[in-house]
Amino acid sequence: MPAAMDESDVTRDPRDRLIIFDTTLRDGEQSPGAALNVNEKLEIAHAPEEMEVDALDAGFPISSPGDFRSVQRISREIRDCVVCGLTRANRKDIDVAAEAIRDAARPRIHTGLGVSDVHIRHKLRTTREGALERGVDAVRYSRRFVDDVQYYTEDAGRAEPEYLYQVLEAVIKAGATVVNIPDTTGYSTPAEFGALIRGIKENVPNIDKAVIAVHCHDDLGMATANTLAAILSGARQAEVTINGIGERAGNSSMEEVVMAIKTRQDVFGLHSNINTRHFYPISRLVSNLTGIPVQPNKAIVGANAFAHSSGIHQDGVLKERTTYEIINPRDVGVPDSEIILSARSGRAGLRHRLADLGYILAGDQFEKVYERFLTVADKKKTVDTRDLEAIVADEAQMFFQETYHLEQIQITCGNFSIPTATVRIRGPDGQLHCDADHGTGPVDALYRAINRVIGEPNELIEFSIQAVTEGIDAVGRVTIRIQASEPVKENGVERRVFSGHGADNDIITAAARAYMFALNRLIAARREAVQ
Ligand code: KIV
Ligand code: ZN
Repeated sequence: MPAAMDESDVTRDPRDRLIIFDTTLRDGEQSPGAALNVNEKLEIAHAPEEMEVDALDAGFPISSPGDFRSVQRISREIRDCVVCGLTRANRKDIDVAAEAIRDAARPRIHTGLGVSDVHIRHKLRTTREGALERGVDAVRYSRRFVDDVQYYTEDAGRAEPEYLYQVLEAVIKAGATVVNIPDTTGYSTPAEFGALIRGIKENVPNIDKAVIAVHCHDDLGMATANTLAAILSGARQAEVTINGIGERAGNSSMEEVVMAIKTRQDVFGLHSNINTRHFYPISRLVSNLTGIPVQPNKAIVGANAFAHSSGIHQDGVLKERTTYEIINPRDVGVPDSEIILSARSGRAGLRHRLADLGYILAGDQFEKVYERFLTVADKKKTVDTRDLEAIVADEAQMFFQETYHLEQIQITCGNFSIPTATVRIRGPDGQLHCDADHGTGPVDALYRAINRVIGEPNELIEFSIQAVTEGIDAVGRVTIRIQASEPVKENGVERRVFSGHGADNDIITAAARAYMFALNRLIAARREAVQ
């Protein structure tokens, strides 16, 4: 019996289990600016495996050599989840995906194509019959490589139901084991989407031979509601992403769907295998690596999700937590912010607290974090959980192989002076380069000085700064996005936007770290693309 199972799992009806399919690395990575390199994808892939996600949408192997390599490495390293490679409904895509997932313990090909008339006519430029034939051939061909084939009926939310039933019956007959019903454009309402799934159950004669999956987008803010409505109608696989990231407005969020069925067991009567205590750390990991911040009021994992600010609410929670909290923050891994450390806590104290927060760092990584911790503790006297998380996230990104390392910055600014920055940067050749420039403000001057050394033309398209904790001595966290002037081309796909973040008591230093990280990522992507 796998370690994660207990007696109750054995006696539970498998139809009462919701299968969680994590598409953070595929649809999530399609969020503008979320481009991840192979190592970052692997780091994210291990987290869902640990929290017992059932299936991972590892990527779209034909889309770029980088995607192919990351799907291949995920297939080799992740042993406890189904690993899925996405394809369009054509044999070339399927050949490449089959090769990428060849070494997976539980490989799955995820193929499919559009079913709405707008997709069939304008995107596929074919007929309903032609599209159906292509879909059936893709499933049959995929079955030559794997036993597990998932078929997506793109834009099912806007398709004519009778045609959708016909497609589903045909692809199941051809060997599809999972049929994915996406609301690709986020157009459906919960009542409509629930009815669509009911209609499928009632009108597709062989539907009992496949699992019904749903994949909802959030264009009208209804992705999670649509997913839950579909589950109530009989869908048993939810396609979700951490923090709800994804194409355009994103996808249904894993933490929301899982916590809804867990908290409202009375309504859904289902369980998932997910260890929900991983939600908070994985949310921060995904946010740090993709550079997409978590909005403070985000359900389950937002900074304010368990903050009670009104006096009446605080009084209620102090008397009895459940007066205003329907979820225990510990159940989703929100760290206890009352535990604080100081410079006197020493290595052992820091190591212990980091382990409590789920960070087990290797020797040199720990030493780097310890040095940063001492600097912050010197300036701030006490360091709480939020500071620690910012430090670890900041240092963790630098474990990534930097091409250029920022050694020193010096800034002059003031209301009657010309903002000027001097930087010292160690280049790939190990040589130190020193340069200076001026700008409209200290950050502009700093970024210009860095540009003079590195020479990778780009435009700063987003810059945000947030205090990690309260008070004048708070650690500041800077998140930026830069757009490469020269796109990074991989198999015809252009990548331009790269993000970075940095944290420090000194916001100019935080801004410098953020910029260096984004630039190093851009340079690494360019190197990977030409390999
Ligand atoms: O939104 C969508 O339809 C998709 C499919 C590829 C599943 O992402
Ligand atoms: Zn999608």
